[in-house]
Amino acid sequence: MIGNDITHAALLLKAGEVVAIPTETVYGLAANAFNGNAVAAIYRIKNRPQFNPLIIHTNSSEKLKGWGLEIPDKMRKLMTHFSPGPVTYLIPASKQIPDIVTAGTGAVAVRIPGHQATLQLLSMLDFPLAAPSANPSGYISPTRATHVEEQLGGSIPYILDGGECKIGIESTIISFLHERPEILRHGGLSKEKIEHVIGTVIDQCILNKHANASINPLAPGMLAKHYSPKKLLLIGNIQHLLQDKNKQRVAVISFKDVFDDVPVENQFCLSVSGNLDEAAQHLFAAMRQADRLDVDCIVTEFFPDKELGRAINDRLMRAAAKE
Ligand code: TXA
Ligand code: MG
Repeated sequence: MIGNDITHAALLLKAGEVVAIPTETVYGLAANAFNGNAVAAIYRIKNRPQFNPLIIHTNSSEKLKGWGLEIPDKMRKLMTHFSPGPVTYLIPASKQIPDIVTAGTGAVAVRIPGHQATLQLLSMLDFPLAAPSANPSGYISPTRATHVEEQLGGSIPYILDGGECKIGIESTIISFLHERPEILRHGGLSKEKIEHVIGTVIDQCILNKHANASINPLAPGMLAKHYSPKKLLLIGNIQHLLQDKNKQRVAVISFKDVFDDVPVENQFCLSVSGNLDEAAQHLFAAMRQADRLDVDCIVTEFFPDKELGRAINDRLMRAAAKE
């Protein structure tokens, strides 16, 4: 059931149920992180491999301290600027954080999401919420309550509706496990903004393009194939890709251009004005809609490799990966 009753969501979560929650990035599939059975249910519902750990969500850094977690200086600086917001911090876990949440890695990913309803919900709870994106493992993340309902509605008692996600792409993951901070996943907070506050960070995602990410993923969940539509997705110069195709039978996801001969209802131009934030916000909904059309393939292009364009390119490449 979809609704906007925060108290009801809190009661269900306290009772150990799994509830979908809105965040500014994507919808999450949430449960009490301290309740092993509730967390196990998340893995089951998503069909997620057990080796892939979960982010814990809360509304204050004080609570993190209360759970025995230590906040490194640079993380604190970032938190002052960007939390609540689309960034997740990877730090050493404490005894209180169950192994099922960390997948036994000894590290825990924490995030304060920037969404009013969910912040209010979290303020009513004395435990963190473990929450992966609310999609079946391997499919596109949901950015609207209806996306969650379509795929997981039958498996969970409640979807808290918080409207369309403002950022539209998952949080940036930054690790503080080693001497220098490392970006493990590009996401809703750009590397440029991070470096403006704490100086140069290591971009592990660049290395990932060359390494075989599915054999040795840095964030265990960063498997090469991910975020995938069911249809074939091709990335390149859209005009060239269209040349040898029946234009009635393709969907196009473009940054700012529209294309002659492709039916308008098959075209998803993400930002006519060329704004990367706006493009990110609409990307996943466009991928879902394109996936549903009666077409043979989806063609798209690389976005400018800066700011949120980095995260967009990352998701497109994973979506296009064969395995
Ligand atoms: O924006 C987001 O981050 C959304 C919303 C719901 O908060 N959540 C999200 O969760 O994207 P998920 O599970 O779909 O992606 C989390 C990523 C996975 O790649 C996982 O492997 C990585 O974070 N991760 C979580 N805990 C980790 C840990 N202890 N060590 C390394 N990677 C971790
Ligand atoms: Mg996910």
